[in-house]
Amino acid sequence: MDYYQNFRAQLEAKEKEQNKRSIKVYEPIDAVRVKRNNQEFIMMASNNYLGLTHDLRVQQAAKYAVEQYGTGSGGARLTSGTFPLFNELELGIADFKHTEQALVFNTGYMANVGTITALMNKNSIIISDELNHASIIDGCRLSGARIERYNHKDIEHAEHILKNYKSSHKMIITDGVFSMDGDIAPLDKLYELGKEYNALLMVDDAHSTGVLGNGRGTAHHFGLTDVDVQLGTLSKALGSVGGYVAGRKELIEYLVNYSRSFIFSTALSPADIGAALEALTIVKNEPLVVEQLNENTAYMANKLQSMGIECDDETPIFPIIVGDNERALSLAYELELRGIIITAIRPPTVPVGESRLRMTVTAAHSQEQLDYVANTLRDLLVDMNI
Ligand SMILES: Cc1ncc(COP(=O)(O)O)c(C=O)c1O
Repeated sequence: MDYYQNFRAQLEAKEKEQNKRSIKVYEPIDAVRVKRNNQEFIMMASNNYLGLTHDLRVQQAAKYAVEQYGTGSGGARLTSGTFPLFNELELGIADFKHTEQALVFNTGYMANVGTITALMNKNSIIISDELNHASIIDGCRLSGARIERYNHKDIEHAEHILKNYKSSHKMIITDGVFSMDGDIAPLDKLYELGKEYNALLMVDDAHSTGVLGNGRGTAHHFGLTDVDVQLGTLSKALGSVGGYVAGRKELIEYLVNYSRSFIFSTALSPADIGAALEALTIVKNEPLVVEQLNENTAYMANKLQSMGIECDDETPIFPIIVGDNERALSLAYELELRGIIITAIRPPTVPVGESRLRMTVTAAHSQEQLDYVANTLRDLLVDMNI
């Protein structure tokens, strides 16, 4: 077997179906502008929802943490201990989410994989929304549990599955805000199902942290206080990197002891934790930041609706579904020529035939930028007959 020939063949297959990925280099100017070869672009594809990556206080906190504690953490937290900022951040997250405790993981991906594999096993059933994020899917697969996918946000379907597994060890899992569609999970109804059928409930707040429920996430959005596992990232609205799980004391202690992605990986660096802690403090103390995001989201939704583009203002994620890969790629290309970055999202990230542009609005965009993006998008959609 010629391994490299095989790699090439597989890459050519991707190229043929217009599904090959490559990494583009851009130099950030601020939270919403990047440049390449001296051309400037408006970034409409990041998850930096509150623009906190470029908040001077967050940047200072990262610098201070490096000066105080060094550049790396030197080991896994159970091996070489932890620096005080970690505890401060975990206490801060628990306080913010109104849970007993919280635990920081190295990424949201690792939080999902490490939590699901710790909680579920080959005798468990996982009831999972069909549009859940890849890191949830990977965690479910790795756990060895039986995976039952319910139709997107379809409570009756989820209940139908739960009825079949009344006496089993089980967990319902959902994204809080679906990453590629921007819609909100019916967490209130899933919560009731969880209680009725004695299933654990887990919500992934990657795109809800700093966004929904005054920034506190999906459970808060629905006024729920005791969702079993509230998972999220520090890497999107909080402008840093990392993941977290918030919940009861026993859950967190259990994860410290059983979650392999927590136990067997070197802890995040002081800069990551310092930045996340400062960002969290800002979200907690300055409700105007989240309000600005909501305002910008509503502004963009109004603008698009007035141009006949279907959308709502539930969240800052605006999917523009165009169908095939070719159309998605050419629309993204034309936008880029006009100084706007909105990435084409293709299978397997989204189902075949539902390729799209995923546009995100942040609190840091100006109305002028949003106007320019909306007008350019409308003109291109008309020109390209989409
Ligand atoms: C819903 C969801 N969960 C988890 C993740 C993974 O988070 P992270 O980027 O921090 O690994 C992402 C994003 O990439 C996501 O969209």
